[in-house]
Amino acid sequence: MIIKKADLAALAAWKSQYPPELTIDIVLAGRSNVGKSSLINRLLNRKALARTSSNPGKTRTLNFYSVNDAWYFVDLPGYGYAKVSLEEREAFKKMVNRYLETPRRREFWQLIDARHKPGELDQQMSAYLRSVGIPYLIVATKADKLSKNQIAKQKKIIMQELALNESELVFFSATTGLNRDLLLARIAEQIEKDNGKEKARD
Ligand code: GTP
Ligand code: MG
Repeated sequence: MIIKKADLAALAAWKSQYPPELTIDIVLAGRSNVGKSSLINRLLNRKALARTSSNPGKTRTLNFYSVNDAWYFVDLPGYGYAKVSLEEREAFKKMVNRYLETPRRREFWQLIDARHKPGELDQQMSAYLRSVGIPYLIVATKADKLSKNQIAKQKKIIMQELALNESELVFFSATTGLNRDLLLARIAEQIEKDNGKEKARD
């Protein structure tokens, strides 16, 4: 996929602020600091479209980035950041639930740190996604920090911990661009599927 255009389309908390639906929302969820914004910038080849933070827990809205006027990345506030108050966490949860209750075609990418065993919150998130039946992919970030052997080892652990099959897990690095093409091809495939549906309806 060639990235011709990428823009911040909306910072939204409420339904009325969501931008009009395109083919698909690729929704990025994961702990604060896991690399959600870095993945967006790397995939879209924009250095600072999504704000990366040395200041974790800063994202407080759903950030919609439109790509090629065809689809969105939706950057969710990072979960599990200790300095965010309980009230704020509840507000995030409600904000995310409102979005999930809105019928839009979406796929979830849950980001986890490739170096660690998935934590309690990662487990809960993936169990939740599975239970609501939204298609999802686990993206293991910061893979540049691991050797090939370590990746093979972590792959086994993560697949086992989250009960994944091989096609549900991709190792990624925003630093080296590892698997950038694979992830973009996956989105292109989803868009194709959507176009196919449109044609079938005509
Ligand atoms: P929040 O917006 O706070 O939820 O964080 P985030 O998930 O958007 O993380 P962000 O992209 O801001 O990255 C956090 C830190 O990890 C930054 O210092 C990044 O440079 C670093 N980082 C992100 N991805 C990678 C990666 O693939 N490799 C390495 N080595 N560092 C990374
Ligand atoms: Mg971010």
